Amino acid sequence: MTTNKPVLLSGIQPSGQLCLGNYIGAIKNWVGLQNDYDGIFLVVDLHALTVKQKPSELRNRCLSFLAQYIACGIDPGSNLLVIQSHVHQHTELAWVLSTLAYMGELNRMTQFKDKSTKHQENINAGLFTYPVLMAADILLYQADLVPVGADQKQHLELARDLAQRFNQRYSDTFVVPEPFIPKQGARIMSLQSPESKMSKSDTNENNFIALLDPPDTIRKKIKRAVTDSFTDIQYDEENRPGLANLLVMYAEVAGMEIKQVVQQFENKCYEVLKSELAEVIIELLKPVQSEYHRVIQDKKYLSDILSNGAENASYRARKTISKVYRKIGLVPRVQ
Ligand code: TRP
Repeated sequence: MTTNKPVLLSGIQPSGQLCLGNYIGAIKNWVGLQNDYDGIFLVVDLHALTVKQKPSELRNRCLSFLAQYIACGIDPGSNLLVIQSHVHQHTELAWVLSTLAYMGELNRMTQFKDKSTKHQENINAGLFTYPVLMAADILLYQADLVPVGADQKQHLELARDLAQRFNQRYSDTFVVPEPFIPKQGARIMSLQSPESKMSKSDTNENNFIALLDPPDTIRKKIKRAVTDSFTDIQYDEENRPGLANLLVMYAEVAGMEIKQVVQQFENKCYEVLKSELAEVIIELLKPVQSEYHRVIQDKKYLSDILSNGAENASYRARKTISKVYRKIGLVPRVQ
């Protein structure tokens, strides 16, 4: 599957449960862009190892995420769906790139700082070099465009810097990738603490809407979402972050501008906004969930997709890594 279209690449870590934040911030954009690009969508299982995982759960979650990508509308016929660990060149390129990345550069990564504050008992070296592996994911396939949530912007800058550094030192080798970061809705916030982003790995499940949450769970979670003690409906991200988040979610799910949503609910109370928001989310997720339940049963279909993805991706990865090894001066292995 080689096309003349530019390469689009993205990925999500199989930790926690895919949530509405992932859908709005990432997957929805993948779906919208897939026809114009040669798409590669990864389940980045090696990244997930930077936090403790239960092996059996990790294994199931990888397949579940894959099925959810498909259920959300990623077409496996025209894109590559790949489990990161199936293509060993990711880690090989990551090693080479780690010799180009500076400690100081990695030390500045805000996600590393956040995660090491959160997981003080497990500040492992992988957590520190995580952005280098992400750069390898991207550069390995010569990706042109990388759609990610706003929190990944800094990691993408690093990937660009490493590509340029390598190109300068050893001659043109890598495409320097462009980020694609959606403006509105790039950040869907946590339902209970709307100062931080909605995270699929949050230990408090009330903070996020999982794509596979049943309707009653969605109603309950939205109903409990933190707002404020005002009564009117206005968009004020700074002073009323909880309400602002509900409005953003509504706008994104219903395909409206925030302004229109504010108008629609102008003289209504929070309860009405919340119950209508829950219903639009339920409507959005209904077809996704039924497609998911169909696809996840079909193990043969999923394994065919994965084997095709791994084979195609490996072919491209081999091309890049052999070029890289040659340019940096490694002796080619005699076959
Ligand atoms: N770090 C990304 C996240 O947490 C996931 C990721 C890994 C990724 N490799 C990638 C995203 C390559 C885009 C491209 O969201």
